[in-house]
Amino acid sequence: PKDVGILALEVYFPAQYVEQAELERYDGVEAGKYTRGLGQQQMGFCAAHEDINSLCLTVVQRLVERGRLSWDAIGRLEVGTETVIDKSKAVKTVLMELFRDSGNSDVEGIDTTNACYGGTASLFNAAAWVESSAWDGRYAVVVCGDIAVYATGNARPTGGAGAIAMLVGPNAPLVLERGLRGTHMEHAYDFYKPDLASEYPVVDGPLSIQCYLRALDRCYAVYRRKAESQWQQAGIHRPFTLDDFKFIIFHTPFCKLVQKSVGRLLLNDFLAAPNPDTASGLYKGLQPFRGVKLEDTYTSKEVEKAFQAASQEIFNQKTKPSLLLSSRNGNMYTPSMYGCLASLLAQCSAQDLAGSRIGAFSYGSGLAASMFSLRVSQDAAPGSPLDKLLSSLADLPTRLDARKRVAPQDFAEIMKRREETHHLANHTPHGSHTDLFPGTWYLERVDDKYRRQYARK
Ligand code: ACO
Repeated sequence: PKDVGILALEVYFPAQYVEQAELERYDGVEAGKYTRGLGQQQMGFCAAHEDINSLCLTVVQRLVERGRLSWDAIGRLEVGTETVIDKSKAVKTVLMELFRDSGNSDVEGIDTTNACYGGTASLFNAAAWVESSAWDGRYAVVVCGDIAVYATGNARPTGGAGAIAMLVGPNAPLVLERGLRGTHMEHAYDFYKPDLASEYPVVDGPLSIQCYLRALDRCYAVYRRKAESQWQQAGIHRPFTLDDFKFIIFHTPFCKLVQKSVGRLLLNDFLAAPNPDTASGLYKGLQPFRGVKLEDTYTSKEVEKAFQAASQEIFNQKTKPSLLLSSRNGNMYTPSMYGCLASLLAQCSAQDLAGSRIGAFSYGSGLAASMFSLRVSQDAAPGSPLDKLLSSLADLPTRLDARKRVAPQDFAEIMKRREETHHLANHTPHGSHTDLFPGTWYLERVDDKYRRQYARK
């Protein structure tokens, strides 16, 4: 099969949010810390009657219904998530309920977990299946979903929630570029969830940021090397730079980190360039940094500031349009980078996107990270697969506007309810129907054997 990649993409986020400026006042921190310091505007969250199964049920049903697909046409479905509510039973098995009436139970794939990276691992698996001898000609579906919640304190404003489903197959408008993939994995305790009774992670914020930036450096180095060697085989001899990505999307724990990451990539380009011009242009004034080593600069404010300033225009053009969902809904964990993809597609014109290369950096603490790229099809004509994909996402800003704003004290109360009840058997979870968009699945009841029962609004 040719041009394997993403054919359709569906986004689900909660129908309620808290305003970050109000949260600053409520938490008693300085005004601007969450909004300007972290770059976050709003944060979506779920009441106790939404869980990882309900989020994924909603988004998969939406993908199939809106795409007018048949449940028989899906031969693989896998879920990337770190929101674990059962140590054995996969979310995927719950999603099989949606297939029941069709009689199709011949659906490969299961859950994949490592912090925010599970969705990317699932996407790679799904594409590999389509390209393999095991492929039976049907579509693959990749689902990523999470409820990202932190204990009270400085990490809480970097939460979020949501789910994304992607239809994967041949002749896609967003093609996964073959051979262009850089991965970095290592053992780190930057963010992990050892307390199985709690929804909250143990997190070392500063360490997690250093791990993220180090993984970015490593992945970019490997990606670039592979791109350059592909070029060399075609007789092209020049270094790969940020210019070779028209757009760049990132796993987005908070938007400010992404802006810094664009600066970081520019630092990588600058250090790799044989003879950068520091008298004028992009690298003007950066001569003092010529001798720095990447591994010595993870905590350097000087380096960060200089390269953030130098890359401001690159950030505005290549990355800013992708941050809509991240800034207004927060970190969704596994769907975060795919939410950036959806935002980019919702906010750029078909002409801008057609034929472009989108660089993508996926990071999951612990840690697993990859940089890869998507090639957008040239054909943007009305009715083309690209045109259909873009129109399906055009209402993203209106859907965000349609959410309900909740006061920080009510948000804190709901978080407390989740803490108290999320692990309980024999209970009816707290939450109101009015807090859900139409068509949303929700948790109706957990019985005395912890079996969960769902209904659809
Ligand atoms: N106005 C403007 N900016 C402000 C203000 C203000 N009044 N007050 C603070 N700031 C800035 C700070 O200068 C800082 O910016 P800088 O880093 O550019 O200098 C920023 O706001 C954050 O302030 P800190 O004091 O550094 O933040 P804090 O230590 O309270 O927490 C952190 C930030 C570490 C990100 C925390 O929210 C966290 O642990 N989050 C979860 C972990 C995370 O998301 N890690 C990222 C990768 S792993 C993953 O995806 C889960």
